[in-house]
Amino acid sequence: MQELKNQVLCGDCVEVLRAVPEPFADLVFADPPFNIGYKYDKYHDDRASEHYLAWTREWIGQCVRLLQPHGSIYIAIGDEYAAHIKLILEDEHRLTLRNWIIWHYTFGQQTKNKFARSHTHVLYFVKDAKNFVFHDEAVRVISDRQKKYCDKRANPAGKMPDDVWNEYPRICGTFSERTGFPCQMPESLLARIIRVSSNEGDWVLDPFCGSGTTAVVAHKLRRTYTTIDVSETYAQAARVRTREAEGLPVEGNGSPRWPEHADAELRWLYSENKIAVGHLCANRALLSLFTKKLNGRLQKKQPYTIRDVSERLKSLGSKLSPLDKVSPVRMEASSFEH
Ligand SMILES: C[S@@+](CC[C@H](N)C(=O)[O-])C[C@H]1O[C@@H](n2cnc3c(N)ncnc32)[C@H](O)[C@@H]1O
Repeated sequence: MQELKNQVLCGDCVEVLRAVPEPFADLVFADPPFNIGYKYDKYHDDRASEHYLAWTREWIGQCVRLLQPHGSIYIAIGDEYAAHIKLILEDEHRLTLRNWIIWHYTFGQQTKNKFARSHTHVLYFVKDAKNFVFHDEAVRVISDRQKKYCDKRANPAGKMPDDVWNEYPRICGTFSERTGFPCQMPESLLARIIRVSSNEGDWVLDPFCGSGTTAVVAHKLRRTYTTIDVSETYAQAARVRTREAEGLPVEGNGSPRWPEHADAELRWLYSENKIAVGHLCANRALLSLFTKKLNGRLQKKQPYTIRDVSERLKSLGSKLSPLDKVSPVRMEASSFEH
């Protein structure tokens, strides 16, 4: 088992996993090919439906077998097979569905004769409905009561995010985390899943490595990872990407006071909370909440002060997500649109 630790392996995940004798994974995240004719270098994403489903049963079977009794599994999937996967996990493996998450992203593909698709399903299951890891405090966001009304009755810890996630845009050309891989998941989305459903030191398995996002984020968040891709080219690129994540760099300008991982956290938190910089920096109560959340995530011995955070937000300016360009009122309204 030791040889699997912190590895990006090349091979067919079913074969690789079949050779592993016993459960090790605390968390599984799987983002398989969706069988929609996507272009990968090695895998052909246009199988007959029965063939695709038979294969889906195989890899799910291996992942469930290797998931520890307290473990959680998240599967990202398109419309075509979301319902099948739900039934396979519930009826054939007796797992419990905790959330059917919709990842809604902007910049979906344009269509002429039907509505443009702009979402992916993320099905979240646990093996044991009474025994699983769920760190709500690690993913709470500032609530509307706190954000808009400064309401003293609001839970000071913030609110749990909804099950429609619209704060993570698809990776596009201008993102510095972009690797060139065609369907790379955003690191921030993986960070939410890994934070909430695992502890530091836990073991995360991703059977479909692609660009290596899961491995990179697991590594940055001090988890152990194992990931597999059938393409040696993708696996090799992911190894390099994961190695470069050593010391936790993401995008941004590192500085002794603001190392890159702190900048990355600041940006993730900023985009999750959807409060324009001007509004956030002008409202002390909000800024104080934001600073607390940031310090909580970073677990620094010397926490940032409100002033540190305000100055950093202002200096990052255009490097923050495009929320800044939206006035606070319109932006708050937009968070209810879905
Ligand atoms: C949707 S992509 C994963 C993207 C990844 N989540 C990311 O953020 O980059 C699916 C990947 O599964 C790989 N793949 C397909 N069949 C496989 C198999 N049998 N075993 C392992 N990997 C496989 C493909 O080569 C592709 O890289």
